Amino acid sequence: MSTEPVIDWPLLESRALAVRLNAHAPYSGYQVGAALVTRSGAIFAGCNVENASFGLCLCAERSAIAQMVAAGQSDPVAIVVATRGPAAGSPCGACRQVLAEFAMDMPVRLIVDGIPGATKDTTLSALLPDAFRKDSL
Ligand code: THU
Repeated sequence: MSTEPVIDWPLLESRALAVRLNAHAPYSGYQVGAALVTRSGAIFAGCNVENASFGLCLCAERSAIAQMVAAGQSDPVAIVVATRGPAAGSPCGACRQVLAEFAMDMPVRLIVDGIPGATKDTTLSALLPDAFRKDSL
């Protein structure tokens, strides 16, 4: 029987907040940071990367997933997404689908820089029920 991993939420939150500051968001001004931890305990962080050709903007969550895959890992067990306030931002539909490629379900924590009370805890399956997955093909 596999045991559930213990998530170091404060560490994951600090990594999401830190990487958020590196966001390239000159068009929206909306910086996003994401940090995920894999079953092995490795943390991968990503930020949004915007482009003058707006349709090419990359979200923070998909940026973190790309870091994970580039490192040869594929088993995220939790993710924190950090935005500005006043309310926490929620992963866009595309990011939900990309997260669902790698996790059937996992806890998702949404935090706001400087406003601890704005934190929202949810799950991937709550954000994207009945996800389209490879076993549908
Ligand atoms: N953004 C993310 O990084 N993640 C999301 O899930 C939603 C939106 C970014 C994309 C763009 O750079 C900015 O936020 C405004 O949409």
